[in-house]
Amino acid sequence: MRRSDDIPEAIRKKSSKKGSNRIPFLLLIFTTTVGIAIVSFFLKIFLNTTLSPSEIVTKRPDIAPSTATTEKLENILGHLPYVEAKQGDLVPITASGRVRLKKNAAAKFLAMEQDARSQGIILEPISGFRSVQDQRYLFFKIKEERKEPTTKRAEVSAPPGYSEHHTGYAIDIGDAKNPSTNLNRDFDKTDAFGWLQRNANKYSYEMSFPHNNVQGVRYEPWHWRFVGDQDSLETFYKAEQLKQHSKP
Ligand code: DAL
Ligand code: ZN
Repeated sequence: MRRSDDIPEAIRKKSSKKGSNRIPFLLLIFTTTVGIAIVSFFLKIFLNTTLSPSEIVTKRPDIAPSTATTEKLENILGHLPYVEAKQGDLVPITASGRVRLKKNAAAKFLAMEQDARSQGIILEPISGFRSVQDQRYLFFKIKEERKEPTTKRAEVSAPPGYSEHHTGYAIDIGDAKNPSTNLNRDFDKTDAFGWLQRNANKYSYEMSFPHNNVQGVRYEPWHWRFVGDQDSLETFYKAEQLKQHSKP
């Protein structure tokens, strides 16, 4: 007698049906596990390539900006906060001593000015370091005199405490042969501007506010900044990196 003959027919059918269900059930467990593993794998790759600033701090301490704990970067109307340079760190770049920059920025500017001059281009230093007090006048006083709305004023002038000029690394440059273009966008039609575009990088100078800059500040072809040493690089690019990452 076969063993199954001992089992009543009703129970026999039930138990054999249960056995045939076990394979699809195991298959379901297996495919779910594999599915979860695949999704986790791709999720990990995705998260590693789209780091937020706080993730940069935890995953890449070597490149993490020190202020990267805040997702939103402090700014006023697109202008970023800057610390005023110490008076003792500034050196004159004009005979009158009116225009001053930090030491390394000054040395590179003077070298750039001399090379430009040897090629017939006269770069005119218009404004270098500005204190928070200077900027207070430029922002509020001129705004009142011109009866400008605050947002309009901020398109061309940073509020006090938020100007690159506070750092001693930024300079407004004119073309001495075309003074009528000083501090206006026609400066980009001058030979001095063309020369700067071709050569400024050699002296670690770059335009701060080109067309469509991320800060939304109006195009300023005359405003250049020095990024040729550790301090200047950190001053401008820590903030820049945060800004990119904190975009919605
Ligand atoms: N003109 C630039 C934005 C400044 O005032 O710093
Ligand atoms: Zn400027």
